[in-house]
Amino acid sequence: MLEAIAVGKSFPGVRALAGVSMSVAPGEVVSVVGENGAGKSTLMKILAGVQAPDEGTLQHDGREVRFGDVDAAQRAGIVLIHQELNLATSLDVAGNIFLGREPRIGGVLGLISSRIYEEAEVFTRRLGLDCSPRTSVAGLSLGQRQLVEIARALSLRSRYIIFDEPTSSLTERETQRLFEVVRSLKADGVGVVYISHRLHEVRELSDRVVVLRDGQNAGDLRRDEITHQALVERMVGRELKQFFHRTHRETEVAKLADRGVVVNELRWSAAQKRGISLRVARGEIVGMAGLMGSGRTELAETIFGLRRKVGGSVTIDGKAADATSARAAVRAGIALVPEDRRHQGLVVDFPIRENISLPSLGKLQRMKLVRSRDERRLAEDSCAQLAVRTTDVEKSVGLLSGGNQQKVVLAKWLARNPTFLILDEPTRGVDVGAKADIYAIMDRLAAQGTAILMISSDLEEVLGVSDRVLVMHDQRLAGELRRDQLSEQAVMHLATGGGEA
Ligand SMILES: Nc1ncnc2c1ncn2[C@@H]1O[C@H](COP(=O)(O)OP(=O)(O)OP(=O)(O)O)[C@@H](O)[C@H]1O
Ligand SMILES: [Mg+2]
Repeated sequence: MLEAIAVGKSFPGVRALAGVSMSVAPGEVVSVVGENGAGKSTLMKILAGVQAPDEGTLQHDGREVRFGDVDAAQRAGIVLIHQELNLATSLDVAGNIFLGREPRIGGVLGLISSRIYEEAEVFTRRLGLDCSPRTSVAGLSLGQRQLVEIARALSLRSRYIIFDEPTSSLTERETQRLFEVVRSLKADGVGVVYISHRLHEVRELSDRVVVLRDGQNAGDLRRDEITHQALVERMVGRELKQFFHRTHRETEVAKLADRGVVVNELRWSAAQKRGISLRVARGEIVGMAGLMGSGRTELAETIFGLRRKVGGSVTIDGKAADATSARAAVRAGIALVPEDRRHQGLVVDFPIRENISLPSLGKLQRMKLVRSRDERRLAEDSCAQLAVRTTDVEKSVGLLSGGNQQKVVLAKWLARNPTFLILDEPTRGVDVGAKADIYAIMDRLAAQGTAILMISSDLEEVLGVSDRVLVMHDQRLAGELRRDQLSEQAVMHLATGGGEA
């Protein structure tokens, strides 16, 4: 058994963990849940030798252990799949899976390369990652990169595997595949620790759940005690009423329908035979579903001027809004909360305050900004609104927990009151309480007349928030569903190429 006993850990100004205990046995799946910043990743890093605890002990098979580093933990059979991906983008898939271990596989130099590709494929196949092990990681989507990280952990044949939010960038289908892998690991006697903000996943997989709140244990639940409500109560400490809150729907949208966004035959690749045409009325929230790689992010990036368009046009309230740069897009009233927030949405070394106040348009713009009390107040208000867990907006964004970093990017764009707001996976990695906060803000913006396009792979969210849903498949629109036509099956049918339902 692997155990953490009364573990404590502090960072400057933050007590991340205080007297936390948990355990995982071989063949057991233990989930760890808690709000953003509750201390989940910190606890995992301690179990995996990334960080040393300030207090408390680790025990492995009843004996106290101290892992000096990650290698020591790996030798003891413990591996952590990090929440923030950590791949060498200059290497290919196989190179990443076997990074630092090449000689053990090949032996004779000439053999190394071909052997690692064969070996790598065993693991990528198992995960359903359909790209050659020779593909450069730089060209992979977030979800594919996530699968490479998991393949690497599997290849270590560890006795304990810790998954820190593995599914946040995976599609429904990949998630199901991963679940099969987790179940087979369990059957093989591997101990699994699983972290997710998607509570239905936690319910489906776990033998036991450990709840953390503010760096402390807030309850252990046995399999038969794991319900959505029990989890939320212990995590959040308040009831979440009106999770998907909308103050208005179609009727009022109709009034604003003549104003809004019209995307006409937009294309970003010469290979697209047909362009994408869609409308988002002011005050409307249009959901956009589809599988990974179906073209949703490309569409968003083209509208926002990050990708060169091959054809088509965008208008807002009848005025041309074709953007050739992000700067032009912002001027036209468009905002994009990107999918890959850590790389596209944040300057991690900069304080939270500046990340929120910067229009993210390069240095020049930045110089012009007058730093003032207003700027600080804006940042503080935004943080409060989304419950960003930090003691000070002057702290570097990079020091926040994963979910709190996401909230900062959202805060930055939401504070801007755009006419057309595009959200790419807005609640990925965000805890339930913050999800409810984000939906409430979307609702408020829509009520004020913002046109919102929300790309999401979370079907529950798509069904809950959207006035209307567009489904993409294979770089084109596969269909549209009105609210009264919405169901998970209808969306999946279109997303998988099933044609109009
Ligand atoms: N290296 C660090 N320096 C300073 N503070 C840190 C550091 N690592 C974590 N923290 C702080 O410790 C607390 C716990 O963070 P942790 O990453 O463990 O949260 P989490 O439960 O994993 O959250 P999330 O769901 O957002 O991933 C947070 O307040 C975070 O800002
Ligand atoms: Mg975390």
